[in-house]
Amino acid sequence: MSVAVITGGGGDVGAAVAARMSADGWTVVVADLDPAAAHRVAQRLPGVHARRLDVADPAGIGAFVASVTADFRRIDTLVCAAGIEPPQNLADIDVASWDRTQDVNLRGPALLAQAVLPQWAERRSGSMVNIGSRTWLGGGHPGYAASKAGLVGLTRSLAMELAPLGVRVNAVAPSFVRTGFSRQRGDERMLDDYAERVRAVTPMRELVRTEDVANAVAFLAGDQAARITGEVLHVCAGSQLPMFL
Ligand SMILES: NC(=O)c1ccc[n+]([C@@H]2O[C@H](COP(=O)([O-])OP(=O)(O)OC[C@H]3O[C@@H](n4cnc5c(N)ncnc54)[C@H](O)[C@@H]3O)[C@@H](O)[C@H]2O)c1
Repeated sequence: MSVAVITGGGGDVGAAVAARMSADGWTVVVADLDPAAAHRVAQRLPGVHARRLDVADPAGIGAFVASVTADFRRIDTLVCAAGIEPPQNLADIDVASWDRTQDVNLRGPALLAQAVLPQWAERRSGSMVNIGSRTWLGGGHPGYAASKAGLVGLTRSLAMELAPLGVRVNAVAPSFVRTGFSRQRGDERMLDDYAERVRAVTPMRELVRTEDVANAVAFLAGDQAARITGEVLHVCAGSQLPMFL
């Protein structure tokens, strides 16, 4: 039985990935800063377990990987979905939230992969799927977009470094998905308005759903993507394409 850890698994994208991967037969550990959210996801899905994890805490990452490995014998796959986006433009940036954004969105996946590396190397197999964002291409809030562009750099670098070990590393980059995450942007009315504006300029005139992201993650995590590594799969209904209007 393959074991997947999903960080940010208490969130909406992470929960959709957990549902899809548990339906595919994976043992899933949803790991989240918010343990109650992780438990709510685990309770309603067979083969899904909940743990608390702060991906910004290096010492906590080591302890987490050791304890999950002790309980489930292995970690085959990391899905890094934990993410934050302080809604700050250049003038609003403060050092603490800039650093926290990089620590959660970028350093967390790197240190998790480092902690799992010895077992991947021993088994000569494994996979990692990082949840990036369309903003790595198109820009967005600077600290967030920079972290997600960095995550692409990390993904491609680890893909290269770990390929000889049989470990694949890919990223999924969604455009706007209406989730708890988007509530960082404002209240429900503002979000209705924002969602409509996004839909209107999206080439397919459709919004991306959490299940769309989960399908892409499940594909890249598993054996169907056996010879695919270092890729960024955009789940954007076409909005990653350059638009010259
Ligand atoms: N929703 C979107 O529009 C959108 C678009 C592109 C990319 N993404 C990315 O998708 C991922 C998931 O986002 P979502 O929409 O499900 O948001 P969400 O807010 O519903 O979920 C994010 C989860 O991450 C957890 N988290 C935050 N900090 C953490 C930490 N330090 N350690 C562990 N867990 C932590 C939160 O508790 C939350 O459960 C994020 O990486 C986000 O950047 C989201």
